[in-house]
Amino acid sequence: MQRIIAAPCGSRPKPRPAINPVRKRYICLPFCLHKNVAAEACIKLCRLKSRFRYDGLMRTKILPTLAFSIVFLLSGHAPETGNAQQAGPHLMPMPRSVELRPGRLSMDESFSVRLTGHRDARVSGAALRFLERLEKKTGIPLSRFTIGDPASATLEINCIGAGEPVQSAGADESYTLDVADQNARLTAPSPIGILRGLETLLQLVDLDDESFFMPAVRIHDEPRFRWRGLLIDVSRHWEPAEVIKRNLDAMAAVKMNVFHWHLSDDQGFRMESKAFPRLHQLGSEGKYYTQAEVKEIIAYARERGIRVIPEFDMPGHTTAILVAYPELAGAPGPYQIERFWGVFDPCMDPSSQKTYSFLDSFIGEMAKIFPDEYFHIGGDEVNGRQWNASPKIQAFKKQNKLKDNAALQAYFNRRLQKILAKHGKKMIGWDEILHPDLPKSVMIQSWRGISYLAGSGRRGYSGVLSNGYYLDAMRPASFHYGVDPLGKEATALSDEEKSRILGGEACMWAEFITPENIDSRIWPRTAAIAERLWSPAEINDVPDMYRRLAYVDRELSFLGLQHHAGSFKMLRRMTGDAFIAPLRQFAELLKPAGLGSRVKLRKYSSLMPLNRMADAVLPESDAARKFEDLVNEALAAQSGSPDGLRSVREQLSAWRYTARALKAALEQSFLLEEIGPAAEMIGDLTTLGFEAAEYLETRRKPQEEWIGKAAPVLEQAEKPHAEMLIAIGAPIKKLVEAASALP
Ligand code: ACM
Repeated sequence: MQRIIAAPCGSRPKPRPAINPVRKRYICLPFCLHKNVAAEACIKLCRLKSRFRYDGLMRTKILPTLAFSIVFLLSGHAPETGNAQQAGPHLMPMPRSVELRPGRLSMDESFSVRLTGHRDARVSGAALRFLERLEKKTGIPLSRFTIGDPASATLEINCIGAGEPVQSAGADESYTLDVADQNARLTAPSPIGILRGLETLLQLVDLDDESFFMPAVRIHDEPRFRWRGLLIDVSRHWEPAEVIKRNLDAMAAVKMNVFHWHLSDDQGFRMESKAFPRLHQLGSEGKYYTQAEVKEIIAYARERGIRVIPEFDMPGHTTAILVAYPELAGAPGPYQIERFWGVFDPCMDPSSQKTYSFLDSFIGEMAKIFPDEYFHIGGDEVNGRQWNASPKIQAFKKQNKLKDNAALQAYFNRRLQKILAKHGKKMIGWDEILHPDLPKSVMIQSWRGISYLAGSGRRGYSGVLSNGYYLDAMRPASFHYGVDPLGKEATALSDEEKSRILGGEACMWAEFITPENIDSRIWPRTAAIAERLWSPAEINDVPDMYRRLAYVDRELSFLGLQHHAGSFKMLRRMTGDAFIAPLRQFAELLKPAGLGSRVKLRKYSSLMPLNRMADAVLPESDAARKFEDLVNEALAAQSGSPDGLRSVREQLSAWRYTARALKAALEQSFLLEEIGPAAEMIGDLTTLGFEAAEYLETRRKPQEEWIGKAAPVLEQAEKPHAEMLIAIGAPIKKLVEAASALP
C-alpha cells in the first residue's frame, strides 16, 4: 500500500455496486410525477406527454446564445428522500455546464483515488486534502492509500500538463468532471483545474435514505473572469496567520484565486523587514508576520491555487512607515501609529531622493519574498496637506512643471513603477494612480465605481472591480451578487476594452473586524461574489443563489471557518449560558450598521474592544430574509393568505416573547445594557406587525388612531440602535401598509 502520491499496489475490497438494484428507479425532477417507474419507461411517458425535455443538446439548441448550459437529464434520487439537491445541484459557484445524468455514485469506505497524467505536488496534496474533507463530511473513514488495482479506484484524477511555477493571472483553471455509477473522473489541463474540480466534487456529495453519494453528472467548467480576489486588511486590526490560512481555505472552496494582503496602513505595518527592521519593530506593536510565516502562507495559498499580492499603500496611508522612518515624510516627525479611522495627513515626500532609495531597497527585499508578478502600491486617498504645506515640495513641483498634487503623485508613481519593473514586478494600484504617463502594464483596482474601471479599460489599462464588493458596508449577499464588473458603464465598452476588465475583488477592510468576527464579515457573502466572478453572467437567480449559499455556509463551517462559531462565542461572552438561547434569537433580528454609519455614531480607535452586540451579530440575517419571504407570500395571495398570515403572527409572537425574555439578561451584563432600547423597539415593532397581520387575516380595517401610532414605530425601526439596524423592519412595514390599505 502506498500513499496516493505514489504508484499503488496491494489488494482492495471490491466496491459495492454503486446503484442498489432495488432502487434503480428514477423520477424526473422537478417536472415529472411518475414515481416508482423505471427510468426508461419514465422517459417514454414524459416524452409522450411533452412534460419535460430530456435532451441536453436540444436544450442548448433552444438557447444557442447562452454560453453555458445546465441540463438536468434524469435525477437518480426521488423527491421523497428529501435530499438537498432536488431543486438542482447545490454547486457554488455554479459551473459553466452541468449535465445531470441517470444514476449515482454511492460512497462508502472503499472510496479511493488514483492520480494519472502529470505528477504535481499540488495535485497530490489536494487529493489528500480532498480525502480528509470527504472523511469529515461523511464521517466515513477513508484510506489515504490506493489499494488494489489502481484501474479500479473510484476517482481518477488526471492532470494533463504542468502548471506554471508561479501561477499567473492567465492560468488555465478549466476542468471536466464525469461522475458515473461506478466511478468518477476529473480531468484538467493543469494542476489549478484539478484543484477547482475537486472543490466541485466535494460540493456534489450528498446523502439520501440509502447512502452518501454523488449524482451522476458531467461538468465542464472554467471561470468567466480570471481575477477573483479577496482583500484582507491586517493593518487596522491585526489578523494572525491562522486566520489568514482558514480564509484561504474558504477562498479555495469557492474557487477564488487572488489573496490581496493589505499589509500596511496608517494603523500598522505588519511585515517583517530585515533591510528596515524599524518598520515592523516600531510600526506594528509586535503584531506582524515574520518572513518565514509569510513564505509559509504564500506556499499554503499556492497549494490551493491562490496568488498572493502584497499591498504596501503609498505615498498616503503611510503613518506606520513614517513612525519608523520620519525622514521619508513630507513634514518633520516624529510620528505615532494612528489610532483612529479615516484619511490622515502623513505622506511620503515625493521630492526626496531618500524616498526612492528607501523604496528601491524595500521593494527589492519584498519582491524576493512575494513571487507574484503584481505588486500593489495602494495610491489612494492622498490628501496632499503635507505637500501643500512644504515650501520644498512646492518648489519641486514648480521646477518639474507639475501643475497640481495629482501630477506630483503621478511623478511619484512613474518613479515607483520603474523601481517595481527593475525588481520584476508589475504595478497595481487604486483608481487614483490612473495617469496617461504610466505604461499600459499598470493595473487599476477600482474602488470608486465601475465608471472608473470602464475609463481605465477605455484608456488601455487592465483593471479589477472592488466598488460594490466592500464587505464592511454590511450589504446583503444579493446586493454584491448584482454587481457585475462588466455591468453599468462597462456595458458600453468594445470587446477589446472589456477584455481588459479582469475581474474583481471583495474587500474586507478592518476598522471593525477582529480574529473573532472576521469570518462572519467575509463568509458566506463572499461566496456570492465568487460566483459572480466565476460563473456565466446568466447565472443570476437570487433565490437560487440563496438556496446554494445556505449549503456553502454549512460547508464552510465544516472547513473550519468561524463565521457562526465566532458569533456564538461572542454572544456567550455577553451573557453566559443563562440567556444564550433568547440572545441568539434576538441577534437574528439585528445586523451591524455599515462602516459609514458606525464611524459617525461613535468615535472609534483601534484600542477599543470590538466585543459588543454590533460586532457579534451577522451582516445578513437568514431568519429575517425568510420572514420577509413569508410576508411576501402571505401578502401575494389574493386578499392575503390566512395560513400565511397566521404563520407570520406566530413568528412575530415568538420574537416578541424573545425580546421580553431578554430584559433580565440585559441588566446583568454591561455589554448588553446598550441594547435595551433595541429590545424595546423590537417588542413594539413585533406587536405592531402582529396586529397588522391580525387585521389582514380578519379583513378588518384598522382605525386611524392605530395607523397614526404605527408611523413613529416604523420610523424608529429604520434608525440605528447601538450601531445596529433592525433586520425585520421592512417586512413589518409592508404588513402595516397592507393593513392600512384595507377597504
Ligand atoms: C480605498 O477604499 N480607499 C481603497
